[in-house]
Amino acid sequence: RLGRPLVEVAGVPLPASTVDNWSQIHNFEAKPDDLLICTYPKSGTTWIQEIVDMIEQDGDEMKCQRSIIQLRHPFIEWAQPPQPSARNAKDCMVSYYHFQRMNKKLPDPGTWEEYFETFVNGKVAWGSWFDHVRGWWDMRDRYQVLFLFYEDIKRDPKQEIQKVMQFMGKNLEEAVLDKIVQQTSFEKMKENPLVNRSTVPKSHMDLTVSSFMRKGTVGDWKNYFTVAQNERFEEIYREKMKGTSICFCLEL
Ligand code: A3P
Repeated sequence: RLGRPLVEVAGVPLPASTVDNWSQIHNFEAKPDDLLICTYPKSGTTWIQEIVDMIEQDGDEMKCQRSIIQLRHPFIEWAQPPQPSARNAKDCMVSYYHFQRMNKKLPDPGTWEEYFETFVNGKVAWGSWFDHVRGWWDMRDRYQVLFLFYEDIKRDPKQEIQKVMQFMGKNLEEAVLDKIVQQTSFEKMKENPLVNRSTVPKSHMDLTVSSFMRKGTVGDWKNYFTVAQNERFEEIYREKMKGTSICFCLEL
């Protein structure tokens, strides 16, 4: 593995490479018209990045093909009105587990049983799912924040993309919206080398271990959680999310 162990900053475990750039991150100042995408890892970051870019480019996919997604949307932690997106914790955990298996810059996740503990204890890179989701949910009415759910985009992409469009102050025609829905579908994105990480060196991301565009579904957790793990998870969830009104709609 290329990765150094995670380093805690203010109680949040971060990749050492992120900590190397800490002053840049800490001193980052958003300009008034900046749009920040604040997803928890594996909650559809790349998906929303592609949607935002397609809207920005008025549905012209040629303009979105100017470079790989990581350059079109630089990560603050790697270089330089927020839009958090949340995915239910169970599917997120499964996705993150496979991501850590293939991403050699992150710690080896160990077995699924071991990873379950790491995740619920918030010891994964970029910290606890619970803190992230609760934090942004509590913030949503105080600032200009558009809070999106992965499951909603999956269920009704057009409606959710329309919300993003309105948030961005754009007014695109119906036909353009339909094209964006189609261009940002899982099937299209899985084939797109500018978003599917196929250009990342194998020493960093080994797509033979797990693809980046892995399944793109809701409910894959059922293939991983044992009944006992699910019960334990539900208990932890109730405890950690006590008092919040957030609700993840898992039934499609
Ligand atoms: P899975 O591992 O469950 O397949 P991130 O970009 O935050 O790292 O999130 C990656 C997850 O989002 C992966 O989940 C990936 O398949 C899913 N994803 C990416 N693009 C998607 C799309 N167009 N539709 C549905 N899911 C998508």
